[in-house]
Amino acid sequence: MSSFDTANERVGQIAAHLAKAGSSLTDKVCIVTGANSIKGIGRATVYALAKRGPKVIFATDLRGENLEELARDIEMRYPNVACIARAFDAASTEGVTNIVAEAMEMFGRLDVYFANAGMSLPRVRLEDADESSFMEVVRVNSLSAFLALKIAGKAMEETGKGGKEMSGGSIICTASVAGIRSGAGPPEYSAAKSAVINLCQTSAYQYAGTNVRTNAICPGIIETGMTVKTFDYAKSRGSSNKIGQLNPTRRYAVPSEVAAVVAFLASEEASYINGQAIAVDGGLSASLPVVPGRFM
Ligand SMILES: NC(=O)c1ccc[n+]([C@@H]2O[C@H](COP(=O)([O-])OP(=O)(O)OC[C@H]3O[C@@H](n4cnc5c(N)ncnc54)[C@H](O)[C@@H]3O)[C@@H](O)[C@H]2O)c1
Repeated sequence: MSSFDTANERVGQIAAHLAKAGSSLTDKVCIVTGANSIKGIGRATVYALAKRGPKVIFATDLRGENLEELARDIEMRYPNVACIARAFDAASTEGVTNIVAEAMEMFGRLDVYFANAGMSLPRVRLEDADESSFMEVVRVNSLSAFLALKIAGKAMEETGKGGKEMSGGSIICTASVAGIRSGAGPPEYSAAKSAVINLCQTSAYQYAGTNVRTNAICPGIIETGMTVKTFDYAKSRGSSNKIGQLNPTRRYAVPSEVAAVVAFLASEEASYINGQAIAVDGGLSASLPVVPGRFM
């Protein structure tokens, strides 16, 4: 058999193995960060993952007041899915090391890590921002993605326990349209999210050949805990229907619309999507500003 045939055979075997799983997350062990916020993308993603039937989801956040209730609700709605609540800082080496070690000790494998925890500070002029606020925004948004890619990715390569036959997994990091170009957030937030995109792209090459996929999602304007002030202000002025009018879908989005994309990326349906920054923004980042009717 020529080496060409051997390579073809290998590709065929891997593709067939992955295709068997399809949209299902059966047997998979998942970790989601930033899941405490009732209106957040993290919580919505716990539900979207649960629908696909994984073995377990660790629902985690720095704050823990809603996590136990979330875990119980998931286990009631999806009796075959275990949900474990844990509070830790997603931007601390110790926190990420511990949660990954716990998943590996309890279940022998790690398959999905959604590095979603993030924060932004109120918009300030560049001249009024300072070193400590810059470093905190970068720490929470970028360092958390770095630690996920470094620590969870390594664990995803382990096989032999928990029925895992092949190295692999999916790490999805929440970046933002603000990380693609300017105009959607303050400078330190945009810089931090830009780093998240690049970390996912460069990590895909660091994990080359391991079947560990690393992708960023870039939400546009979503109604969540983070944007509640903007939405409340607009609602108080009767202008919430104006939010999202700059994108061609002409509306803002709800967290489940982002969560569905994350669940797809977590599954083997996305087995050939790697190192990408996927915008979930109603088309906002697809165009330069346009004057309707002028050029189109
Ligand atoms: N809402 C939007 O329009 C939008 C747009 C683009 C990107 N994002 C990103 O989406 C992600 C989720 O945010 P959201 O919009 O759901 O907001 P949210 O405020 O509803 O949820 C964010 C969650 O992250 C948690 N968190 C903050 N720092 C943490 C830390 N150090 N460790 C662990 N958890 C921490 C918070 O407690 C909160 O539960 C963030 O990364 C955010 O930057 C949001």
